[in-house]
Amino acid sequence: MADLFGNALAYEELRGASVLGSRGSDEHQGAVLAGPRVETASLQPEESTMSAEVKTLYERLGGYDAITAVANDLLPRLQTDPQLGRFWAHRGEDGVAREKQLLIDFLCAGAGGPVYYRGRDMALCHRGMRISESDWSVFLGHAAATLAKFRVPEAEQREVVSFVQSLKGEIVE
Ligand code: HEM
Repeated sequence: MADLFGNALAYEELRGASVLGSRGSDEHQGAVLAGPRVETASLQPEESTMSAEVKTLYERLGGYDAITAVANDLLPRLQTDPQLGRFWAHRGEDGVAREKQLLIDFLCAGAGGPVYYRGRDMALCHRGMRISESDWSVFLGHAAATLAKFRVPEAEQREVVSFVQSLKGEIVE
């Protein structure tokens, strides 16, 4: 029984750590993850109750790979758009690849995923580009097309769009 209790406690801590995300102590998480008493079998019953918990938008979107697929689809749409293409004209491949990675990280972190965004804030990195209202509408059209292509359910689409819209004031000038 002592073992069972230990496992349950470790799992509670593990869950707490993942809910707290970056606010949890790394050292503590490491200790729990590496603990020899955390066995898969003892986690099964607890894990099934987890499915009843509210999932993050990150999880509901399908996690890192799904968000990466969205960025992979969206960026070329923007780059080849007749109105928006100017923002990426004459930019080097490496700069564009770096920007794509930062976009993925930003979206994952914004959706509650276990990712630390290390890029600049939205106001700083777009300031001076003169992104207009009209550019913003075109951008939203492409974002909607990408979300539709991946058949993202409506509720999640709305959440993504409202997250993006919350950034408008920092990006449009
Ligand atoms: C009309 C809309 C937008 C345009 C034209 C645009 C354009 C650009 C361009 C050209 C860059 C590269 C800047 C540079 O390397 O100096 C950039 C960077 C970035 N953009 Fe946007 N953007 C738009 C909207 C958004 C939105 C809605 C998001 C977030 C959901 C976003 C996230 C980012 C990120 C994370 C970076 C990289 C930041 C960094 O370099 O530290 N952008 N954007």
